[in-house]
Amino acid sequence: MITRSAQWQALSQHYERIKSTHMRDMFKVDPNRFEHFSLTASGLTLDYSKNHITSETMDALIALAQATNVCAQRDKMFSGEPINITEHRAVLHTALRNLSDKPIEVDGEDIMPLIKSTLAKLKVFVDAVSTGEKCGFTGKAFTDVVSIGIGGSFLGPKIMSEALKPYRQKHLKVHFVANVDGCHLADVLENLNPETTLFITSSKTLSTQETLRNADSAREWFLKSAQPNDIKHNFACVSTNIEAAKTFGIDEENIFPMWDWVGGRYSVWSAIGLPLALAIGFDHYQAFLEGAFDMDEHFQKAPLNENMPVIMALLGIWYRNFHRAQSQVLLPYYHYLRGLPAYIQQLDMESNGKSVSILNEELSYATGPIIWGSEGTNGQHSFHQLIHQSKTTIPVDFMLPMHPHHDVANHHDMLASNCFGQSQALMEGQSEAQVRAAMKKANCSSEEINNLASHKVMKGNKPSNTLLFNTLDPKTLGSLIALYEHKVFVQGVIWQVNSFDQWGVELGKALGNQVLSKLSDKTEPLTMDGSTNALISLYRSR
Ligand code: F6P
Repeated sequence: MITRSAQWQALSQHYERIKSTHMRDMFKVDPNRFEHFSLTASGLTLDYSKNHITSETMDALIALAQATNVCAQRDKMFSGEPINITEHRAVLHTALRNLSDKPIEVDGEDIMPLIKSTLAKLKVFVDAVSTGEKCGFTGKAFTDVVSIGIGGSFLGPKIMSEALKPYRQKHLKVHFVANVDGCHLADVLENLNPETTLFITSSKTLSTQETLRNADSAREWFLKSAQPNDIKHNFACVSTNIEAAKTFGIDEENIFPMWDWVGGRYSVWSAIGLPLALAIGFDHYQAFLEGAFDMDEHFQKAPLNENMPVIMALLGIWYRNFHRAQSQVLLPYYHYLRGLPAYIQQLDMESNGKSVSILNEELSYATGPIIWGSEGTNGQHSFHQLIHQSKTTIPVDFMLPMHPHHDVANHHDMLASNCFGQSQALMEGQSEAQVRAAMKKANCSSEEINNLASHKVMKGNKPSNTLLFNTLDPKTLGSLIALYEHKVFVQGVIWQVNSFDQWGVELGKALGNQVLSKLSDKTEPLTMDGSTNALISLYRSR
C-alpha cells in the first residue's frame, strides 16, 4: 500500500517532469482529450480536458486519494460516524436527502423517522401558507416572507431561490435579511404589510448576534401594528434551540427543529431550506433534495477515476499544492447562478480554511483555496484580464446550462460562445508568432508590431473545467450543490483537516461583543490595542 507521503512525493516528481509542457501540445498529442477527460453524472457533464494533466497525472492523483482512505472516510460520513472530531459530532447533511429506506443511526437511534417527520411538517406548513389556509393575525393570506438569518442560515435559501427564479410561486415573495446593518432590514420592511408578512428566524444556535438583533427589530416593527399574542401567527423559527424560540413567542407549530449533526454551511437540505420551499413550492424543493441524493449515490458508488466529486477535488489539489495556485474562480455563465460563488465561498473556505490537522499538528502544506467569482460574461469585462495575462495561475470552473429559461432573441448562443471561447483562449493563448502574423495581416507597421506584440501575447496553459447541464431545474441544482459539498469533503480528507468545525470565527464574535459594550457605554475604559481604541474614540465622538 503506497503511503500518503510517498504518493505526495511521486506527484511532486511528476509535476517537475511535466510542468513545462503546454496544454496546446497535450491536445496535439491527443486530439481526443475530451473523450479521455470528461464524465457525466446526475445530469451534469464535466469536461476536465482543459486541465494541465496527463493520464499519468490522474493515475497519481487517484493513488493519492486511495492512500488517504477517501472511500473509507466517505463511508464513515454517510453512516453517521462522528467524523467531526473536534465537536464529537456526526456529519449527516446527506441523511436529510436520503431517499433510500436505509436507516442511519446517531447515538444508537435511527434518525430517519425524525428527518421524515420534520420534512412532512415542513410540507404541511409550506402548502398551508401557499394556499392561504395558514394566514396572518388578521386572517389575510401571506403575500411576503421575510427570512432572517446569516451564513449558512441565509446563503442557501437565498441563493437557491435566486437560482430557481423560474420555479418561484408568483403569489408569495420571499425576502432575505442577513446583515446587522440596519439598512438591510429597513430596505426589506419599508413596503411590507405586517398583516400579510410571515417572518422566519433561521439560526442553528439562536445565539448569532446579527440574527437576534434583526429578529428583535422585526418583532418591534410588527408590534407597532399588532399585539404580542399575534406573534404566533406571523412568526416561525428554525433552530436547534427550541426553548429560545418559544421564549421569543413563537408557536410550537411554527418551530422547525435542526440538529447538531448538520453544519450551518450544509443545512439548506434541513428546515433551514423552509424559505426556499416557500419560494418555489414543496414539490420543487423535494426535487432539489432528489438531485442531491442522486449525486450522493454517484459519489458512493462510482469508481474513483469516474467519480465527479473526487476528480474535481483532486484537480483542485493538483493546482493548490503542486501548481501553488492561491485561489479558484467560479464563472457561472448563467444570470440565475450569479450567487453561486458566494455560496461555495462559505462551503469551501469555512470547511477547509484550516491549518491544523485532525492529528492536532500544524500543517506543512496549503489547504483550502480562496474561492471567488461572478456571472459570465460580466467577468470578461473586469477581472478576466488578470486570469489571461498575469503570472498567477487561477483554475476556473465554468458552468453553463444548454437550455436557458428565457432565450430572448438568441442570446443564449452568444452566452455559450463566450463561455467556450474563454476556456479555449485560456488553454491555447496566442504565441508571439501568431500575434505578429495577425498584426502584419492587419497592415500594422513593423514599429507598431515590435512595440505591441509582446503585450498581446497570451501565454495560455491556464486550466479550466466546464460543467454543462441541460437546464437549471431544481434537481440539477441539487446535484450541482452536492457535487461541490463532496468535492470539499474529499479535499478535507486528503488535507487531513476537520472540514466540519469553524473555530476561526469565534474570536471575532467575542471581540465584537467587547467593542459593542464600549460603544454602548462611553464610560467604559479603552483597554484594547492603540488602533482599536482610537477607532472606538473616533466613533464615540461622531
Ligand atoms: O460563521 C459562523 C457560523 O456559525 C456559520 O457556520 C453559520 O452558518 C452562521 O455562523 C450562522 O449560524 P446560526 O445558524 O447558528 O445563526
